[in-house]
Amino acid sequence: MAAATTCSQLNLNFISFNTQSSKPRFNPSSTCCALPSSSHSNKSYSAEPQPLFSSVKSFAPATVANLGPGFDFLGCAVDGIGDHVSIRVDPNVHPGELSISHISGAGSKLSKDPLMNCAGIAAIAAMKMLNIQSVGLSLSLDKGLPLGSGLGSSAASAAAAAVAVNELFGGRLSQSDLVSAGLESESQVSGYHADNVAPSIMGGFILIRSYDPLELVQLKFPDNKKLFFVLVNPEFEAPTKKMRAALPQEVTMSHHVWNCSQAGALVASVLQGDIIGLGKAMSNDKIVEPKRAPLIPGMEAVKKAAIKAGAYGCTISGAGPTAVAVTDDEERGKEIGERMVEAFMKEGNLKATAMINQLDRVGARVVSSVPR
Ligand code: HSE
Repeated sequence: MAAATTCSQLNLNFISFNTQSSKPRFNPSSTCCALPSSSHSNKSYSAEPQPLFSSVKSFAPATVANLGPGFDFLGCAVDGIGDHVSIRVDPNVHPGELSISHISGAGSKLSKDPLMNCAGIAAIAAMKMLNIQSVGLSLSLDKGLPLGSGLGSSAASAAAAAVAVNELFGGRLSQSDLVSAGLESESQVSGYHADNVAPSIMGGFILIRSYDPLELVQLKFPDNKKLFFVLVNPEFEAPTKKMRAALPQEVTMSHHVWNCSQAGALVASVLQGDIIGLGKAMSNDKIVEPKRAPLIPGMEAVKKAAIKAGAYGCTISGAGPTAVAVTDDEERGKEIGERMVEAFMKEGNLKATAMINQLDRVGARVVSSVPR
């Protein structure tokens, strides 16, 4: 099925654009961006841009969504791990369409049908926004992130793809446009949530203040503070759709008040660089984590082991199964990681691996390009 045809089936109804935007997507100091609701607008660029490059390669980092009480509205990017996407102009691809030529790394199970692939869906969404009709593109995906890990694997592919397409055509799209393209992909693959794709594109901590219209707030964590994430990934599948289905449809007023307090404290702690406060708030979700943790063997014991080993806080990363703990000391982080891995084995009978990563403050970026 032709990608250009099915774009409309994906109902990619986008937005008005700021044609003056230079390259806001790579400006980590921007604090807020908003765009009209997709349901209220169906605009795209009328003048089709021509490609400036014959190919562009991009990288998008892994992310930790939710951070405990921030279910679907808070997330952050972590450095060192992520996905690469290369996009090239391909005369063998029908103009206006996209094909996936190659998938490597951890993505061997993924479909090469662009409409069934996170990177493909986001790339097509970005093409649609740019009104690309006269050039065909090929996409190559190198997956650095394991699938279904709770590290924003699908979002990283989508973010890298949207950024690469945009760069190829001169970078007209704003950060919030790119997040919308990624959100289109996320909504088809795992659910309508931007707490992975927004930080993967923008870097740092992102608060999704509103989805309709989309309003994103970048929360600046002080440059002079050290923050280490201990990410412990067990050999266990926790599909996001299944983990979302486990959540309650309604919450009590007391849980609402509690979780809002924790989320507020978490935001304040990020802005103040207060890692102890951040960890405390992150550990104190009473709505989502209590429903999901029992579905991940050993998770409750892993959290206890992390805190006992000196972590300031611990929770499930995104929908899981990865557990995330925070500390301000790398050596202690290694110790915490070892204790968490042990607990996954002892209490959950699961093999797990630990990584220590810092905050990625940059977000998705172009790593190379070939001029035409
Ligand atoms: N907020 C989403 C969820 C993130 O928890 O379902 C998924 O990675």
